[in-house]
Amino acid sequence: MSARLPGAILISGRGSNMAALLAAARDPAFPVDFRLVLSDRPEAAGLTTARQAGVEARAIEWTGRAAFEAEAMTALEGMSILCLAGFMRVLSPGFVARWPGRLLNIHPSLLPAWRGLEPQRRALEAGEKQAGASVHHVTAGVDEGPVIAQQAVPVLPDDTVESLSTRILAVEHEIYPRAVDRAARALIGESTT
Ligand code: GRF
Repeated sequence: MSARLPGAILISGRGSNMAALLAAARDPAFPVDFRLVLSDRPEAAGLTTARQAGVEARAIEWTGRAAFEAEAMTALEGMSILCLAGFMRVLSPGFVARWPGRLLNIHPSLLPAWRGLEPQRRALEAGEKQAGASVHHVTAGVDEGPVIAQQAVPVLPDDTVESLSTRILAVEHEIYPRAVDRAARALIGESTT
């Protein structure tokens, strides 16, 4: 395999998707070497998880988008791929444009359905029979970029927002590493077959 792509993960909280990505990257055959975890919230639990996994983790406290992005840009210099994993801020079109095809996000709905906040609650309240998770390229619009992986889960009659979210999260942890693997191999120019 060609050299692994240096990568970073942006989080705001718990970081379970981040942990799934870091676990996948422990395999030397995984095409991304995650070198940095960045959070916009110093209290994000995922920062501790990342450090325990031996990955550098830094908070850049959100005081406004321009200030955050300027500092993040410096911290992210040299990174070839960025994964948003529960990062709860909207990045500017200028920032997004710096990472064409190299900025991914995971969203707990079957996009294009239920973009934005609390998709699990809204899917449940709408009486959907199916929910799911999507990995997509990040573009300037919120949760609007091309979908690169998606998996459905059933909505069960007794579901609460919590039970549905837990079922979706298990799928997120499977599809995100797989999608990053595929996207990174495409960037490197390797076949995924
Ligand atoms: C996940 O459901 C993710 O899809 C959404 O925010 C949640 C983050 O969870 N964007 P975690 O921090 O990865 O545990």
